[in-house]
Amino acid sequence: MFGLTGWSREDIADPYPVYRRCREAASVHKGQSGAFYVFSYDEVSQVLSSRSFGREVPVPAEGRALRAIVENWLVFMDPPRHTELRSQLAKEFSPAVVAGLRPRITQIAHELLARLNGQREADLVEGFAAPLPILVISELLGLPAEHHAWLRATAMALQEGSSSRRSSAGQARAEAAAQEFAAYFRELVRLRRGEDRGDLLTILVRARDNGVPLSVDAIVGTCVHLLTAGHETTTNSLTKAVLALRAHPGVLDDLRESPELTRAAVEELLRYDPPVQAVTRWSRQDLRLGGHEVPTGSRVVALLGSANRDPARFPHPDVLDVHRRADRHLGFGLGIHYCLGAALARAEIEIGLRALLDGVPALGHGDHQVDYADDMVFHGPSRLVLDLSGTK
Ligand code: HEM
Repeated sequence: MFGLTGWSREDIADPYPVYRRCREAASVHKGQSGAFYVFSYDEVSQVLSSRSFGREVPVPAEGRALRAIVENWLVFMDPPRHTELRSQLAKEFSPAVVAGLRPRITQIAHELLARLNGQREADLVEGFAAPLPILVISELLGLPAEHHAWLRATAMALQEGSSSRRSSAGQARAEAAAQEFAAYFRELVRLRRGEDRGDLLTILVRARDNGVPLSVDAIVGTCVHLLTAGHETTTNSLTKAVLALRAHPGVLDDLRESPELTRAAVEELLRYDPPVQAVTRWSRQDLRLGGHEVPTGSRVVALLGSANRDPARFPHPDVLDVHRRADRHLGFGLGIHYCLGAALARAEIEIGLRALLDGVPALGHGDHQVDYADDMVFHGPSRLVLDLSGTK
């Protein structure tokens, strides 16, 4: 019986054989809890693009501070609230705005790389893949760089409370993190009222002052959302990209010799092993899906990781092929909730990966130790220690 909890360490590290077995048996499975799990590309696309499915805030009522933040997350809103907020934010994450950020992202990547160089071994999560996106999103929001370690730790504690694996201790930590974030961002909103810093936080405060219906809670929730959505996913993409390239040294060599392939490689890596493995929806009406009757109010879990390996959409899906057209992958979702930060994420991964390929001679060889976080939704290594002493 399929579910998102109770996976072995081996299956967490490589869930694709599990998905393949499920997908070959049926495109949709009903789990013990009554939830429906969707494995095929076509049906995952249908769930994500149909108005028959909506969102719900995944936080119990007792987590008051956490709920106050998470109910203001775009990703858990339905239209028309979703449409209104998304239109306020979309222009700040457009490809044109992101193009202007590339020099700064490159500078941050090279500063981080300089700190790695000279070390015999390093944890790529702590030393590179985590700080890169958190520094970028903090700067966009206008948060001081020296807060980044606290921002990351607090964002991760908060994420625990809205994850599929929440425990009561995790929930308490998430509630405490939500209270800290609320106090922190409320104070920044107050300061931005008097001072235009040209950052995203100022833009949100100004929009409110100019009559856009954005409550202070909505601004606080949006800031926390951008911080959480914008860092762990990108961190995991970078470390999973490195792991995939280490397992495919020929592809790694191709990328070293032909840097112009990097952009296409990023798409293929996001198809091959996406950092968000699953997204949840709730049926808004009785319907049929993959041969099942799905009653109103059912939980439906769309497995992006499985859809991206569906041979009906991607021939030879288990092959990492940077020359394939992978751009219809579902790693960023689909439909109205398609990742707002996709252009930014693509730029960060491309620039980060390029910096590693060019600046870490031992990237593709020597030993590594990897531990995966125990999470089948936000999926990736919590630690990836590389031996950097080789010079090949
Ligand atoms: C939504 C993946 C990076 C902000 C999503 C969704 C996915 C996703 C799958 C859809 C969720 C759903 O349908 O339930 C990723 C991946 C990333 C990444 C794989 C990195 C490789 C970012 C970044 C930001 C961001 C850098 C912003 C700074 C958002 C927001 C949403 C979202 C705000 C909600 C959009 C909406 O509901 O309209 N992301 N994301 N993400 N992402 Fe990303």
